[in-house]
Amino acid sequence: MRLLITGGSSYLGQHLTPMALAAADFSEIRYTYFQNDPLNHPAGARLDVRQPTAVAHCIQAFQPDVIIHTIGSNRGDDLESIIVNGTENVMQAAGRARLIHLSTDCVFDGKTPPYPETAAPTPINAYGRAKAQAETIVHPHPNHVIIRTSLIYSLTQMDHGTRWMTQALRAGKPVTLFDNQIRQPVWAESLSRSILELARHDFSGILHIAGAQLMTRSQFALKMLDWWQAAPRDTLQIGQADGTQWPLDLTLDLSRAAAVLATNNPGVDTVIRQHPPE
Ligand SMILES: NC(=O)c1ccc[n+]([C@@H]2O[C@H](COP(=O)([O-])OP(=O)(O)OC[C@H]3O[C@@H](n4cnc5c(N)ncnc54)[C@H](OP(=O)(O)O)[C@@H]3O)[C@@H](O)[C@H]2O)c1
Repeated sequence: MRLLITGGSSYLGQHLTPMALAAADFSEIRYTYFQNDPLNHPAGARLDVRQPTAVAHCIQAFQPDVIIHTIGSNRGDDLESIIVNGTENVMQAAGRARLIHLSTDCVFDGKTPPYPETAAPTPINAYGRAKAQAETIVHPHPNHVIIRTSLIYSLTQMDHGTRWMTQALRAGKPVTLFDNQIRQPVWAESLSRSILELARHDFSGILHIAGAQLMTRSQFALKMLDWWQAAPRDTLQIGQADGTQWPLDLTLDLSRAAAVLATNNPGVDTVIRQHPPE
């Protein structure tokens, strides 16, 4: 089985790709990066996903059986063309390869939780709109999986949110943690295991994969700050978001994933208990 991971250099990709490279399941693996290749492995190839010809060439030259498309996060200033045009380019070139597409809980507005896979997307910001549009692009592919997930973190590499907070707190800037935004943070290790399980699975459709523990963003942020012990708290405060920029309660119904997957996605407290800081 030949596996292509787009965005091997993403936060998720940096956990997923080494796990795939270490597994015996794939005869050959290629991953892509754009500006940086933190993995620095011979399986890496540079790709600008906005370029249709480059994407077609990358996929046709490698002939993957499975594509895991992780490119398309909420970072950077070219969200729409990376997420929407990039997904269109991958979809056009995918042919018969199984296409596993990473999406987000932010396709929902956070007003009517819990959200099952059958709920219609109701995005409230540009990221959510672009990711919802990318889902509709992938949907006609006969062998696709759309994974909607929550905040991704690990205990080996600081997640984007904790890194941003740490830098701001160290610089003495004010940081407000919201206690009315609800999420299900997911451990990058178990999410990666779930994705690789899906590479070999025959499930097709949308799957909500997230951590088993519901928490507010402030609870999650404080747990990560405690675990990493990397920042002072003098300029930290707790507040309430108004729900206009980012959705408030993104509780996902995880029952379909529990029925489909053998992999379990534990909650934050369980992961931390099993991996105490040294
Ligand atoms: N992180 C989360 O908490 C979270 C939550 C829910 C869903 N997700 C989903 O999970 C996926 C991965 O998110 P992430 O946060 O791990 O991503 P990320 O760390 O922000 O990485 C972004 C990736 O996109 C690549 N990229 C940027 N511009 C590109 C271009 N023009 N052509 C090709 N590649 C380009 C980057 O490559 P270079 O770094 O090499 O430039 C990098 O690999 C996304 O689909 C996201 O929607 C993430």
